[in-house]
Amino acid sequence: MIFNNVNFDTYLKNYPTDDGFFGKYGGSYISPELQTAMNEITHAYNTICKSRKFIDELRRIRREFQGRPTPISHLQRLSDSIGTGVQLYAKREDLNHSGAHKLNHCMGEALLAKYMGKKKVIAETGAGQHGVALATAAAYFGLECDIYMGKVDIEKQAPNVARMKILGARVVEVTDGLQTLKEAVDAAFAAYAKEYKDAIYCIGSVLGPHPFPLMVRDFQSVVGIEAREQFMNMTGELPDAVVACVGGGSNAMGMFAGFLNDPVDIYGVEPLGRGTALGDHAASLKYGTEGIMHGFNSIMLKDENGEPAPVYSVASGLDYPSSGPEHAFLHDLGRVKYDVINDEETIDAFFTLSRLEGIIPAIESSHAVAYGIKLAQKMSKGSVLINLSGRGDKDMDYVIEKYGIR
Ligand SMILES: Cc1ncc(COP(=O)(O)O)c(C=O)c1O
Repeated sequence: MIFNNVNFDTYLKNYPTDDGFFGKYGGSYISPELQTAMNEITHAYNTICKSRKFIDELRRIRREFQGRPTPISHLQRLSDSIGTGVQLYAKREDLNHSGAHKLNHCMGEALLAKYMGKKKVIAETGAGQHGVALATAAAYFGLECDIYMGKVDIEKQAPNVARMKILGARVVEVTDGLQTLKEAVDAAFAAYAKEYKDAIYCIGSVLGPHPFPLMVRDFQSVVGIEAREQFMNMTGELPDAVVACVGGGSNAMGMFAGFLNDPVDIYGVEPLGRGTALGDHAASLKYGTEGIMHGFNSIMLKDENGEPAPVYSVASGLDYPSSGPEHAFLHDLGRVKYDVINDEETIDAFFTLSRLEGIIPAIESSHAVAYGIKLAQKMSKGSVLINLSGRGDKDMDYVIEKYGIR
């Protein structure tokens, strides 16, 4: 399929370019020392991860340890409650071991670390889901694991902090700035710059300098590849629309990778938080402008000095002032439509899915659920496939304390 002069038949092979660009977005804007480390990872990724041995081992791990493939569930009662005849489906990444899609790239990254002879994995985390996934992978492969996490998120996501510690990871509290995800990334990169000879940075999304956006997308694309085949087997056709929430954008890119070359409408959902004022949301693609942060060029929210702006969302995993460079590219191209869902709509969807389907979604994923419901209300027929990126156990105490039982 050709869309806006881009050939999607060969898109995944051609993007990013060898130096990590999706159009003008992406690249690698880092110190020469970190560039040496990135070159080592790029080389390892292009050789080791393409080898039969690596691919077979990762496939076995996915089957035997992660519990893949995850199913697709027909959300029958939710669809009936909307009443337009549109059918909603969910790709159940909440059933992936450790409760979210994050383990898909963590097992790949940690397996690569092992092949490269590294002793430690380092990462940042927001909601704690990436931290838990990486701590899980580190335990599985016998690697040390340092997870950097903002103080605010540590307080908000206590169950995940406990899980990381039980799994043997060291959780390093970050007290700079707003004490959330952006500061955690800054701190983790600073640590990595000192330790890169023995450690590997395992970024939590399709972010950062090349090759991370490529690597994480490829490891996550198992979601979209599985989903496309499963949906065809279940219904005999493709979904009319696919929906995923976008923080950094890893669950969305994984899902979208399976459908970019199909006549399917694709929607990325960003968090509108408390409203449209700068500082009240984290909808970078909707309200941001081009800029460089954390080693890559993308669309981001900036303050009056051009620095990354403070951001907010009820979902710790979505409150990041930018999104992966591939999302910026697909946004400009118009192949993916990016829209927003606010906190209130998110919490409503959290309870609606729980009550009607017996699935408690992560607050991040609830953004996609809310958007899927809105979309189904506007459509007159067809189907919507939602990527249910994670389960909501980590969020239950916070939701009950802040919003009560609805
Ligand atoms: C369940 C869940 N979904 C989505 C996200 C957002 O990350 P990404 O946009 O990289 O998928 C997170 C981040 O922590 C998460 O925990």
